[in-house]
Amino acid sequence: MSEARTLPGFREFYPEDRAIIGHIFDVWRGACRRHGFHEWEPPVLEPLELFTEKSGEEIVRQLFNFEDKGGRKVSLRPEMTPSLARMVGARANGMPKPIRWFAIGENYRYEKPQKGRLRAFYQLNADLLGEPGPAADAEIIALCAECLLGFGLTQSDFRIRISDRTLWFRHLARLGVPEDRAGLVLAVVDKLERGSPDDLAKAMAVALAGVDADPAVVLRGAREFAAAGSFEGLSRLAAGDASMEARLADWKQLLDALHAMGLSECLAVDLTIVRGLAYYTGFVFEAFETGGEARALAGGGRYDSLVARLGGPDLPAVGFGMGDVTLRDLLELRGRLPAYADGPDFYAIILGEDARSVALEDVARLRRAGLRVEYNLRDGKFGKLAQSAEAAGAKYGIVYGGQEVARGVAKVRSFADRREAEVARTDLVPALLAVRQEGIGALIP
Ligand code: HAM
Repeated sequence: MSEARTLPGFREFYPEDRAIIGHIFDVWRGACRRHGFHEWEPPVLEPLELFTEKSGEEIVRQLFNFEDKGGRKVSLRPEMTPSLARMVGARANGMPKPIRWFAIGENYRYEKPQKGRLRAFYQLNADLLGEPGPAADAEIIALCAECLLGFGLTQSDFRIRISDRTLWFRHLARLGVPEDRAGLVLAVVDKLERGSPDDLAKAMAVALAGVDADPAVVLRGAREFAAAGSFEGLSRLAAGDASMEARLADWKQLLDALHAMGLSECLAVDLTIVRGLAYYTGFVFEAFETGGEARALAGGGRYDSLVARLGGPDLPAVGFGMGDVTLRDLLELRGRLPAYADGPDFYAIILGEDARSVALEDVARLRRAGLRVEYNLRDGKFGKLAQSAEAAGAKYGIVYGGQEVARGVAKVRSFADRREAEVARTDLVPALLAVRQEGIGALIP
């Protein structure tokens, strides 16, 4: 492979692309902070076993792992949840509950690069730990929705499909699936929508090998269960099963809370969602663009035993991850990406080397006052320099010619309408702060 190319599934961000990522991070961070979440960050490189033992098979196949120079088996993080569980677990006893944490960072998965799927992608993670009841699940699902609404999307642009591994485990037990095989069977259920009947039958037979349960019966029973498309559908499935009926009270609490927060339109009950990761224990959900075939925008759920499995106390937890790749595609499609405008506030046009030291003194003062200022590094003619200033995206020029310098002034020029005003150099900072705020009119009576 040519060294001049990037690796498959890795992106280069030119400034206009990086600006979009920056915007996405700003909206995510804003939503999380409004919900009271605190930002944290895990290491990029972790011991391999953190993921081989905690994430589930699908992710393990996709690890970017290697041996470091000290002979340690390590992996780039494919996700942040195991690191979160370890970090919270180590300090949980002294922390006020519930714990609300969010992180934004790059994850790495050796997947086949394709639309919506890369090998390096950014992900927002938001997790709420210490509260076992559905109020916490509702809070996390609401935050997931607000993270999308924050971009100017509407509730009709996406669907959050909610499901429940607790109900699934109960149903699989009814179908005769032993507890220790339920995870394997759910991995097959995860493929129900995409897999061919043949492949599904084979996969189910493998999941149930050596067990006294008929794969065809389990597959049919799973399909019927997955078809419950509403709360009423769930109630029908649960009828006559006391533990399932009891679980519906949690469902009602969850849906009522989300309804009260005005989020009913973007929600759907959908038992086809079971999630590929091994650690989920209760409600699970995924967000998709409506109508599109695209891959998930976000996914998450409850994982009540992970913290304890990493050596921490028993700490119930629920959270989600939202990626930047499918999100960016959707925002582009819906015209919700901001135009790229990243020019300086002012551009000092320095005419002649005699004016340079005076101009640089002002430029430094203006920058220290918080204004964004560029200037010509080389001498040139006014016309050329004014063009450079506009090409850099500046709205205003500050002209330093020999005459201005001699009189202790600078000329401020609006490139949009070519209006100009002289300002005494001693007044420059407040005058230009006003121009940035109100336009050149601030200087022209
Ligand atoms: P996940 O479903 O594996 O969950 O990933 C969440 C989101 O990250 C996906 O919906 C997708 O938007 C994005 N994503 C995942 N893999 C890729 C990829 N290869 N390329 C582009 N985007 C991708 C988790 O990672 C869980 N740890 C989330 C979580 C947090 N659960 C509880 N807390």
